[in-house]
Amino acid sequence: MPTLPTATDALLRGPSSAHYAATLHEVVDDVAARVAAVAQPFCGASRAELAALVDEVDLDAPGVGDGPALREVADLYASHAVWFHHPAYAAHLNCPVAVSAVGAEAMLAAVNTSVDTYDQSTVATLMERRLVEWTAGRIGFTAGDGVFTSGGTQSNLQALFLARERALTGPDGTRLTGAARRELLARLRVLATASSHFSVAKSALLLGLEDDAVVEVATDAHGRMEAGALAAALAATVGAGDAVMAVVATAGTTDRGCVDPLAAVADACDAVGAWLHVDAAYGGGLLVSPARRHLLDGIERARSVTVDFHKTFFQPVSSSALVVRDPADLARTAWHADYLNPAADAEVNQVDRSLQTTRRFDALKLWATLRAVGADGIGRMVDAVCDLAAAVHAELEGDPELRLLAPTDLSTVLFRYEPEGVTPEQADALVPQVRRVLFDSGRALVAKTVVDGRPCLKLTLLNPDATLDDVRTVLDLVRDAAHGLLAGQALAADAAPPCRGVHPRLDRLAATSTQAAEVVR
Ligand SMILES: Cc1ncc(COP(=O)(O)O)c(C=O)c1O
Repeated sequence: MPTLPTATDALLRGPSSAHYAATLHEVVDDVAARVAAVAQPFCGASRAELAALVDEVDLDAPGVGDGPALREVADLYASHAVWFHHPAYAAHLNCPVAVSAVGAEAMLAAVNTSVDTYDQSTVATLMERRLVEWTAGRIGFTAGDGVFTSGGTQSNLQALFLARERALTGPDGTRLTGAARRELLARLRVLATASSHFSVAKSALLLGLEDDAVVEVATDAHGRMEAGALAAALAATVGAGDAVMAVVATAGTTDRGCVDPLAAVADACDAVGAWLHVDAAYGGGLLVSPARRHLLDGIERARSVTVDFHKTFFQPVSSSALVVRDPADLARTAWHADYLNPAADAEVNQVDRSLQTTRRFDALKLWATLRAVGADGIGRMVDAVCDLAAAVHAELEGDPELRLLAPTDLSTVLFRYEPEGVTPEQADALVPQVRRVLFDSGRALVAKTVVDGRPCLKLTLLNPDATLDDVRTVLDLVRDAAHGLLAGQALAADAAPPCRGVHPRLDRLAATSTQAAEVVR
């Protein structure tokens, strides 16, 4: 008789439930202590140091047990992670997470529901569908349908997939096939601005569109789509014998945090029957904003909308949704398998609506946060980060050293260190260097990007607890890093620093600093 392996505490089952509770409590206590003690967003370890720590773990060694393994994992991961809740983290679109959502995350991981067929998910399917309805209602769709996805990239891909399938549907309502499909596919065009997220162009590639399928629509000086230019581009596309597959408007561009004029864009789309997709991955939080909901006016006229809850709803990664105005559009995602979701099966399910099969119950986290904090509570946090960005913009107006580059509707700050005496080329070169010095120090994390063809630094403010003083501290570190870099360059060239007298710290540093990184360490 072969002996069956003995069940152990390694798996979460009835007999191991006490061990599970003890193990999780230890993890939670450890994370809580770390969160409380975090003094800077990153420890500043070098990649070589981290690579050595990662490489030294023997993944083929015998198991050490849950407690020791998780303590080892915490030492490796949590000690060296980037902490988005620290007010000096101001780089990308990452937010501190709602405690309610983290609790729900622990719950859904333990239960391990897959929201595909009803028989695997039961109430989870009903809860996700209710949240989709809730989101559709906030958008202003009277019917609507949708599905949770892994993020804005996947939501955008699915929206454009639906638009492609609609475009490749014949007058009799059936899918075009063969040569007719190939011929039309080659002529499909997606109209978007240069500020649209790169996932739009990437989706076009994945969907088999031509290399020149994404047509750039002109913007105003702040990167917002020009409705007049869109109307002209739509006419030009059709005039050239091409077919409009979709127009992508962005509600919250990644760099500038600007919202395209959705109502005017919808007018232009409606005039020619074009599919309007609104990428509200960043600006989706405005759906619950008490003060700024009007920025999304017109979103209800979109045919599909991306909302990232893991950006402006303070949800842990991952949590996003694609929501469509007409449920028949989403039905184009369905694919039937005898073993899972046969066409004859009348049971409600989300797998027919998803690009994924097995799929996390991310909706539970948002549900918990809506119940814990309330939609208005989330919206007030969105308003808080937008207010903070507005205050930082006001403060930078007229700053002698930091030049503000663009306004925002949301919560980004685009700027350069460019005082008088520093050439534009020097300012260009300082952008990646300053970011690097800050990153290496771990004391403040800022992003870099390119605006109007020139490099610049970017703050993305998504921490409602951060204060103007917190941001001032980050900006002081930016100045210090720039001073140190310039002083180091001047010493290396045995010359006076190029902007002596601009800031007392610079003159002091010119005499003392050889390493810019020392300045902010
Ligand atoms: C406007 C916009 N759309 C889509 C995305 C992609 O979202 P995700 O990173 O969740 O895939 C981003 C990410 O920053 C974004 O800013």
